[in-house]
Amino acid sequence: MPHRILLTRQIHPDAMDALARLGSVRLWPEPRPIPPNVLLAWIREADACLSMLTDRIDGKVLEAGAANLRIVSNMAVGFDNIDVSSASQKNILVTNTPDVLTEATAELTWALMLTTARRVISARESLLRGEWGDWAPDGFLGTELWGKTLGIVGWGRIGEAVARRASAFGMRVIVLENKSRGSKTDTLPLPEFLAQADVISLHVPLTPATRKMVDASWFQRMKPSAFVINTARGPVIDSAALLDALNAGHLAGAALDVFEQEPLPGDDPLATHPRVLATPHIGSATAETRRAMALRAVENIAAALSGRRPPDLVEPRGGGTA
Ligand code: DGY
Repeated sequence: MPHRILLTRQIHPDAMDALARLGSVRLWPEPRPIPPNVLLAWIREADACLSMLTDRIDGKVLEAGAANLRIVSNMAVGFDNIDVSSASQKNILVTNTPDVLTEATAELTWALMLTTARRVISARESLLRGEWGDWAPDGFLGTELWGKTLGIVGWGRIGEAVARRASAFGMRVIVLENKSRGSKTDTLPLPEFLAQADVISLHVPLTPATRKMVDASWFQRMKPSAFVINTARGPVIDSAALLDALNAGHLAGAALDVFEQEPLPGDDPLATHPRVLATPHIGSATAETRRAMALRAVENIAAALSGRRPPDLVEPRGGGTA
């Protein structure tokens, strides 16, 4: 019998072709996430599952698949949507797609940083409203990044890639002390880090240790002129505390690509806040990267189905960097 592969979303055609060469593919064809009840039913008859970060692969889903399922291959570097401990208890492999999205995510981080610091969105919206009168010496004054300090939280691949671009923008880089990995740049403990950073950019995975890590106590100690950029995972920030801090003037602004609840409704207070730039989880959204992620996810399935160790095997984790 050919291998049975569950694919929860249409992916790049090259990856669809590669997957079809591995076995018979059952595709959820709609342009929205597979409903949980369909996932639960279809996983029973799958030897492999190529999942998205929007699919919740919890203990119940893994239990349903346990008789046949050999691998859950997530098309994302993050895998907080999967109960990895439960998978490993059932001998189901879990893989992610690291490396291939590093540069795309770093580029989006810089896009958000520059757009926020220079108030590009407000300026454009004002122009579209027909409000462009005379040039004004104090019109749309932003913050210059040149000469400022960029604080990186999470010195993994993406944090490093963001930091690598900083010298081109004349920024000094500091890194929040992280005992799990070294860095060549200045590593500071939290109080000094928060006191010095002009822009704080988050690059940690979502784990029990990082959930709501950025809370009211952080905002109270940041520079009131600081910006926070989040291209990691939404629940790393306590969003109620972020809104309070923005309204109390504890920080200048935030640019967020990820949220505690996704999708974020357009009328959510974070989406509409005048000092928040919100984008819909597009960190890895380049044509090149999404193709590479899809191919990498297929590669992991190919390895597992042929009895080899998949290149991107992940372990249950309690901390670390993306
Ligand atoms: C990931 O891969 O975890 C990213 O969030 C996708 O953009």
